[in-house]
Amino acid sequence: MEIVVSGIRPTGNLHLGNYFGAVRAFVQMQREYDCRFFIADWHSLTTHPHPDNIVRNAYTILAEYLACGLDPEQATIYIQSDVPEVLELYLYLNMNAYLGELERTTSFKEKARQQPDNVNAGLLTYPALMAADILLHKGVKVPVGKDQEQNMEMARKFARRFNTIYGVDYFAEPQSYSLAGKAVKVPGLDGSGKMGKSDGNCIYLMDDEKTISKKVMKAVTDSGPTEPNSEKPDVIQNLFTFMEIVSTPEVYQHFDELYNNCSIRYGDMKKQLAADINAYAAPIRERIAEFSADQDQLRRIARQGAERAREHAAKTIEEVRRIIGFRSGK
Ligand code: ADP
Ligand code: TRP
Repeated sequence: MEIVVSGIRPTGNLHLGNYFGAVRAFVQMQREYDCRFFIADWHSLTTHPHPDNIVRNAYTILAEYLACGLDPEQATIYIQSDVPEVLELYLYLNMNAYLGELERTTSFKEKARQQPDNVNAGLLTYPALMAADILLHKGVKVPVGKDQEQNMEMARKFARRFNTIYGVDYFAEPQSYSLAGKAVKVPGLDGSGKMGKSDGNCIYLMDDEKTISKKVMKAVTDSGPTEPNSEKPDVIQNLFTFMEIVSTPEVYQHFDELYNNCSIRYGDMKKQLAADINAYAAPIRERIAEFSADQDQLRRIARQGAERAREHAAKTIEEVRRIIGFRSGK
């Protein structure tokens, strides 16, 4: 079975965009592939040097992913810092990663601009750690967004270079795995094209019914159509797109007809949309609460995931040591 690897940055709570755009596809993928999903807490030190809440955040995110349906029996789910083997591979890859190419990556340049007082070596070698995350599992498919394309290029380059330098055909080149067919883009309700953390327009999986309702009722609209069957302006289209995602086709059609005959009342539509979002989110919200309330269980799940990941990882490290010419670690 093909090995899928993906890292999840513990940058905050999951929102509906993350859910429909990525997590739901992960849940499907775990049935079709040998998936290794991990929470990339070491990566976050590159931008958050004081790890006050990193441990707690990792568990919160773990609870959210489990609540969405990631299943520790089907996929290997772990926290990066529980699997120290990755650091050894990171070291080997770093020895064959060159300053020039690392400095040229867009994400490095961007982060260096954002945090000029903390342009640390971890930031520079972020692509090497990411490549190590993937190659440690001999991952071949990596579901990531477009923004990670350059890091994926680097991962392929490091894999090729390792093979060339040591004269082996050991690492396969990992490919980005597009979620396009399985993911849905969730619009923002503030008139922007996309729901996103940096846009501050998110409905979170943790949001309660009242908060969801408040956020939806605040959504931007216009004064309504005046001509039958007129084209929907972006802000209105966003509401309909949202409805397409969470409501039944009948509900969608009903409001589409009201729009087309100019009798739509956006207040009613928003009420319906809020109710449908809540119906979708409520069971997930409840499961998040259940998982979060049982920290022992979360610890157990993380430990079990780490044990499995470390078994795979130890094998890779053993082989890599042999290829480079080091003594076995055992
Ligand atoms: P954000 O910073 O907006 O919370 P991230 O950049 O961390 O989101 O994205 C994590 C994953 O969620 C990515 O795979 C991304 O494609 C997906 N994602 C984020 N927002 C949306 C959205 N509005 N619609 C669809 N997918 C999304
Ligand atoms: N860099 C990825 C991001 O910002 C997170 C990540 C770290 C990752 N290691 C990975 C993704 C390995 C896929 C595979 O989203």
